[in-house]
Amino acid sequence: MNAPDPARPHRGTIHLCDAEVLAHEGHAADQYILRVHAPACAAAARPGSFAHLTCDDELPMRRPLSIMRVDAEAGWVEFLYKTHGHGLTRLSRRRPGDYLSVLGPIGRPFRLDPAHPNLLLLGGGVGIPPMLFLAESLAEDQRADWQPLVLMGSEIPFPFDIAQRPRPVVGLPGTASAALQPLENLGIPSRLSTLAGLPGCYPGYVTDLARHWLDAISPAERAQVAVHACGPTPMLRAVQALAAEYALPCQISLEEYMACAVGGCAGCAVEIVRDGLRQMKRVCVDGPVFEASDVCF
Ligand SMILES: Cc1cc2nc3c(=O)[nH]c(=O)nc-3n(C[C@H](O)[C@H](O)[C@H](O)COP(=O)(O)OP(=O)(O)OC[C@H]3O[C@@H](n4cnc5c(N)ncnc54)[C@H](O)[C@@H]3O)c2cc1C
Ligand code: FES
Repeated sequence: MNAPDPARPHRGTIHLCDAEVLAHEGHAADQYILRVHAPACAAAARPGSFAHLTCDDELPMRRPLSIMRVDAEAGWVEFLYKTHGHGLTRLSRRRPGDYLSVLGPIGRPFRLDPAHPNLLLLGGGVGIPPMLFLAESLAEDQRADWQPLVLMGSEIPFPFDIAQRPRPVVGLPGTASAALQPLENLGIPSRLSTLAGLPGCYPGYVTDLARHWLDAISPAERAQVAVHACGPTPMLRAVQALAAEYALPCQISLEEYMACAVGGCAGCAVEIVRDGLRQMKRVCVDGPVFEASDVCF
């Protein structure tokens, strides 16, 4: 694969394929983990990329889903979604052996800066998948001694194995005792938050949990922190404010209604302010990951 042109990172790297459903697991509260065989997409995907999928042969509009995991060698891509409307509900009926059309990977991924190896990764709701992809990819990234802390918020049960006695994290309250077992297995600390009374989860917002940690680490450690986040808009607004308060570099992944998802229709445009200039940017190909300080909510 040629290196993507930084000015047009999507050119030559978005692939279209008929992808076989390899596995499709249902979890609590209408959540699904879908694995499809899409080798070219798997090879080019980066944390923050998404794909545009057909849900059903009778539904012409595709739906965008973040890529949660890939195995480039085995050629599969995995997604986590929660059904809301008719598109994803139809997708949830697809069975192993079925085929669906996958267009991807799409979008500018998260960018890592070795000068900021203390990565605070914040995921909320259906914003969890890209943060999991980012966290798991760090285990293989040799560019820096990455020290990630993953904090996830959800109001429905997490569709992953939960570690009840995870590695300790400085500054976090005892109420935050549960962690994600897949990250624990990779040596990556994580904690969970909820307002829904889920066991072992910090009773509050994920940004409040982050604040406990930021207040507990030293100024020298804090100077090396970068925040990466994906989640619902109110959470991203709170992350943007938190990063500004602590003067931390911060990237956030936005969601917007999408038609083409390849930059052609401008239906996903959002307002960005960069260097004092107001501009419209397309979430699909100029994002979905943006500098938090550029985003106008
Ligand atoms: C870049 C990106 C990544 C996403 N990643 C995930 C993910 O990993 N997991 C997950 O569960 N959801 C994710 N979403 C949200 C998901 O795409 C929408 O919930 C889904 O399109 C809703 O479709 P529906 O037919 O089930 O719902 P309906 O509300 O019936 O959809 C009707 C129309 O609105 C559009 N639409 C509705 N909500 C959204 C939305 N939030 N964003 C974009 N289009 C929308 C649909 O495409 C469709 O055209 C992502 C969205 C974007 C933009
Ligand atoms: S969805 Fe068409 S330009 Fe982004």
